[in-house]
Amino acid sequence: MCETVRNCRDLASIDADQSVTLHLGNQGRTMGFYQDHIVPHLISLAMRKETFAPYRRRTVSAASGRVLEIGIGSGLNLPFYSAAVGQVIGIDPSPRLLAMARRAGQGPAPEATFIEGSAEAIPVATGSIDTVVTTWTLCSIPDVAGALREMRRVLKPDGRLLFVEHGRAPEPGVRAWQERLTPLWRRIGGGCHLNRAIGDLIADAGFRVERLDTGYMRGPRPMTYMYEGIARPG
Ligand SMILES: C[S@@+](CC[C@H](N)C(=O)[O-])C[C@H]1O[C@@H](n2cnc3c(N)ncnc32)[C@H](O)[C@@H]1O
Repeated sequence: MCETVRNCRDLASIDADQSVTLHLGNQGRTMGFYQDHIVPHLISLAMRKETFAPYRRRTVSAASGRVLEIGIGSGLNLPFYSAAVGQVIGIDPSPRLLAMARRAGQGPAPEATFIEGSAEAIPVATGSIDTVVTTWTLCSIPDVAGALREMRRVLKPDGRLLFVEHGRAPEPGVRAWQERLTPLWRRIGGGCHLNRAIGDLIADAGFRVERLDTGYMRGPRPMTYMYEGIARPG
């Protein structure tokens, strides 16, 4: 079953798809190398696209107070935080992306602190956060419903979830492609799902969605249907 003690321990914390790699011998090791070493660089490169910048500016500049950024990745949002932010805490499971985030440029907000961890178990006190920020992250979290419940838990009662995400498109033809492509896309794209109904997921976790703008960004339609908005913990 597990090839090493480390793999056995990892098995407890990774999703079913990734655990398959443990049974594939050399091919599994290749996929593990790809996920740990190549994917973080691909993510960092792909997320630098200029077309994302207006979305980042709108979403991130609205944050205030004590901010928790979920899936902070290589820290590309950091320059967009305003002086209304007192503290930025960034959480991400990838040590490589966090190392890049530590080197990323900062804006007017105070220097960020980073946690290597998962949004499904946020090591932050209940009701202690003013703003949770997620940008193109809900697509990749294995237990996204559990992660959204955690985000709601850590928010103050008058706190806000600010999000910009890609997800399920309204047209049946595009949706069919999203369903078809997602199994392969998750394997090569760091767990990214193309077919998640982001607005519904946020509402189902008990948030009150205060604003939700949807529409296509430039690019292939299965990958570019955006959900941008604000939600309150209840
Ligand atoms: C497409 S990248 C987006 C990165 C960043 N938010 C940005 O806008 O550039 C998805 C991010 O989600 C992170 N991620 C994946 N699973 C996660 C989890 N369980 N908890 C928190 N973040 C997660 C990945 O490590 C990666 O940094």
